Amino acid sequence: MRLSFLNRTVLVTGGGGGLGKAYALEFAKRGANVVINDLGGNLDGSSATGNLSETAASNVVKEITSQGGKAVADYHNVATQGDKIVETALKAYGKIDVLVNNAGILRDKTFHKMEQKDWDDVLAVHLNGTFSLCRAVWPHMQASNFGRIINIGSGAGLYGNYGQSSYAAAKMGILGLTLTLSKEGVRNNIKCNCIVPIAGSRMTATVLPPAVLDLLHPSHVAPIVAALAHESSTSTGKIFEVGGGWYSEVRISRTRGVGLGGGAGAASAEDILQNMDKIGDFSHSCWPEGPGDALKDMMAAAADAQSSPSPAQAQAQAHVQAPILTPAEVTPPPQAASLFSSLTSYITSSPQNTAAFKALIKSYIVHFVVAHDADPQSKATWALYGGGSNSVPSITLLPSSAASAMPSASSPSQAPACTIHVSDTTIARLASRSLSTEMAFMRGLLKVEGSMGVALKMKEVLALAGSAK
Ligand code: NAI
Repeated sequence: MRLSFLNRTVLVTGGGGGLGKAYALEFAKRGANVVINDLGGNLDGSSATGNLSETAASNVVKEITSQGGKAVADYHNVATQGDKIVETALKAYGKIDVLVNNAGILRDKTFHKMEQKDWDDVLAVHLNGTFSLCRAVWPHMQASNFGRIINIGSGAGLYGNYGQSSYAAAKMGILGLTLTLSKEGVRNNIKCNCIVPIAGSRMTATVLPPAVLDLLHPSHVAPIVAALAHESSTSTGKIFEVGGGWYSEVRISRTRGVGLGGGAGAASAEDILQNMDKIGDFSHSCWPEGPGDALKDMMAAAADAQSSPSPAQAQAQAHVQAPILTPAEVTPPPQAASLFSSLTSYITSSPQNTAAFKALIKSYIVHFVVAHDADPQSKATWALYGGGSNSVPSITLLPSSAASAMPSASSPSQAPACTIHVSDTTIARLASRSLSTEMAFMRGLLKVEGSMGVALKMKEVLALAGSAK
């Protein structure tokens, strides 16, 4: 199926030459109303403060309209005039559907020669310009429940490049903006992606040999910009590195990390140096999707640190712990066993008590996975079931095979609404209220998977259990 942009308005900044022109021609060829913004400045942006040339944008408009396409020119400065540029689009076509933030300048200098003005101008065009345009189109895209924004990054930003500190900083700023807008745009079908191109243009003319430039024609980048801008594209928050007919996706990866200290006791600088290999071990890397992903791992590490015995304790325990229990043979952690036994007696002792428990858990299933203090790998799982309005509530110690099994799609009713991971001492302290759930969570002593709302109710359930003991 040919991707059509009929009745779509596409705005390309810096569309008067290089890559921007290639994008504009591609959209025009596919039936779009194209707004070509360009102030016709020099590569270093020097003309941006005067001596503007309208020919860059006008020539591309002429090229498109002479072939039957639809295009208008705009000569404003992206750095500060995003609203004016969007106004041009609205006046000409009544709406804005796609924004390609392509305008850019270069002021390459090694860092020790970097002047404040160079830094500011590069950030103004790239980063402020991208902001200015995104900000101006955003309410229109929200109102129409549709939008496609393609921002332009650079390998210099992703990987760093000699002599390009200002440019690299601006481009990484654009990436952060893109990833955030991709999240904020979800509810209005606004998709926002970042292209990291390589192409022959005046920007690369002095750094790449002509034979290579010939192979890197901007027309190789335009197709992915059009694909991402199309209404059928579902991609958002993605980074594509492309050029010369080669298309790849880039993700920010991180190692699994290693817990050193955590909780109350911090690691020393010496611990960090000694563990640099483990910290930087990418053999099982992952690709976080938000800052919360790291927080989860931090909490897990802190919880492990809290419930792990010190080396001296571990040595002492080694003598008394043998034989190590396999999961099938795990005896339940004693404090939790006593707590849940008391709770069971409590809820079965009177209709009022049953009702109190049901009111808290409703028809949910909640799993408590409780680890032995001395051997955190040995865990037992209790399933608490509220019973809803028709069934009897229950508290069951699950066999280890059932506890470790993933809930199957065919029996969703068996799936817990949330799973709470704690140590034996922690659950006892929560029940006796010598430790608050908030503090336990902050200190990584309590981890929650699934619904936080249901997990919060467990505070009261544990208080019931504590008072029943
Ligand atoms: P180019 O210099 O040929 O095109 C940039 C266009 O932006 C020019 O027509 C210029 O007049 C316009 N422009 C500059 N400042 C402006 C402002 N304040 N307001 C409105 N228009 C303005 O450069 P090229 O290579 O086509 O680059 C396009 C984009 O791609 C830039 O963002 C650049 O950083 C990025 N890029 C290019 C790479 C390449 O290999 N050519 C590599 C990585 C990124």
